[in-house]
Amino acid sequence: MTKKTFHLREISYDDWEILLEWRNEKETRNNSINSNIIQEDEHKDFIKKIIKDSEKNQFIFEYNEKPVGTIREDLLGEDQFELSYTINPKYRGMKIGQIMMHLYLIERKGSFFCEVKEKNIPSIKMIEKLGFKLFKKDNQINLYKLDK
Ligand SMILES: CC(C)(COP(=O)(O)OP(=O)(O)OC[C@H]1O[C@@H](n2cnc3c(N)ncnc32)[C@H](O)[C@@H]1OP(=O)(O)O)[C@@H](O)C(=O)NCCC(=O)NCCS
Repeated sequence: MTKKTFHLREISYDDWEILLEWRNEKETRNNSINSNIIQEDEHKDFIKKIIKDSEKNQFIFEYNEKPVGTIREDLLGEDQFELSYTINPKYRGMKIGQIMMHLYLIERKGSFFCEVKEKNIPSIKMIEKLGFKLFKKDNQINLYKLDK
């Protein structure tokens, strides 16, 4: 059987293009709280800010050395993090999101929050399998929480 590799690494500025492509893809936009198309300049500034900001971290998940997903972590308070994530559209439906999230969470401690539109069934199924529980509901957006 061929060897499989999984790797979670921090983003670098050079990842801006693939991250913009995933961000502007239809399903990602439909499932995002802000569904607007993001312009290249705005996105590049956003990526630069994330790289500089000590309260934000973003990761690329690689499967067999190909970028297949991303997670962003925003520090909300002491040991409290909001997570947002996307899987490369070509790799959706393979449950790769769960592997990415497991790898991210494996040695982390704290409270993790995810805001998910209530109609985003794949995302809800994925985070519930990881142990996230519904914490709050507001205007068709569910807030899920995991304490670990
Ligand atoms: C949400 C997302 C990260 C899930 O990652 P994924 O690796 O593609 O996950 P999958 O779709 O393979 O699996 C997730 C679960 O949803 C289920 N599922 C997928 N599509 C479904 C559908 N249309 N109806 C019902 N269940 C569905 C899968 O069967 C799986 O459940 P199971 O483990 O109980 O079998 C990915 O779909 C994505 O990037 N979506 C667009 C961006 C997005 O929504 N980001 C999150 C914002 S909160």
